[in-house]
Amino acid sequence: MERLKERILHEATVINNDVLKLDALLNHQVDPILTMEMGKEFASRYAGEAITKVITVESSGIPVGFTTALALGVPLLFARRKKTLIADPDAFTERVPSFTKGIVTDIMVSRQFLNDSDTVLFIDDIIANGDAARGLIKIIERSGAKLAGLGIVVEKSFQAGARTIREQGIRVESLVQIASLEGGKIQFL
Ligand code: G4P
Ligand code: NA
Ligand code: NA
Repeated sequence: MERLKERILHEATVINNDVLKLDALLNHQVDPILTMEMGKEFASRYAGEAITKVITVESSGIPVGFTTALALGVPLLFARRKKTLIADPDAFTERVPSFTKGIVTDIMVSRQFLNDSDTVLFIDDIIANGDAARGLIKIIERSGAKLAGLGIVVEKSFQAGARTIREQGIRVESLVQIASLEGGKIQFL
């Protein structure tokens, strides 16, 4: 998405060689029209996959997850984050470390909303090391649902997340791939 690249060049800030601040577009403020375009793009890339549900993790995955779900005409399911989780037999849970926050959280999806009759498209805003993504993939696997693939707005290709997930044989579609943030410069792949 060329328009998205331009917006990132103008509105994102390089924090250091690893982290790009995307508060203006993804993590604090969202542009509804641009987010609608993202959703339509993911929906078209996964057309014909018989998606029954879009799944994401709260909070920053929700806007683009929503527009993708709207474009596909299916519900959006978002995994919830909890600080400490009391064992819940009615939910799938996974413990995930967070790259930016330096903390561990539990993500949770109720068994009520995910089962082996589902084919899910996993949408997320950013992929870095992929810890959160791997956690949600494990939950999807345990539910028996089929994973059609991932749709990621910003893939930081210099970190291992997207590559290792592709190596598992899972399809990963990214709207923008960033090769490097070295020297404060955003270099696209
Ligand atoms: P991930 O690759 O599966 O996202 O897992 P990772 O543990 O690497 O990243 C954890 C969190 O850090 C995610 O947000 C992810 O979006 C965020 N993150 C990673 N790299 C960057 C970056 O360069 N810029 C920004 N702005 N965020 C980054 P989260 O914990 O899911 O929080 P939320 O935004 O959904 O609330
Ligand atoms: Na996220
Ligand atoms: Na995030």
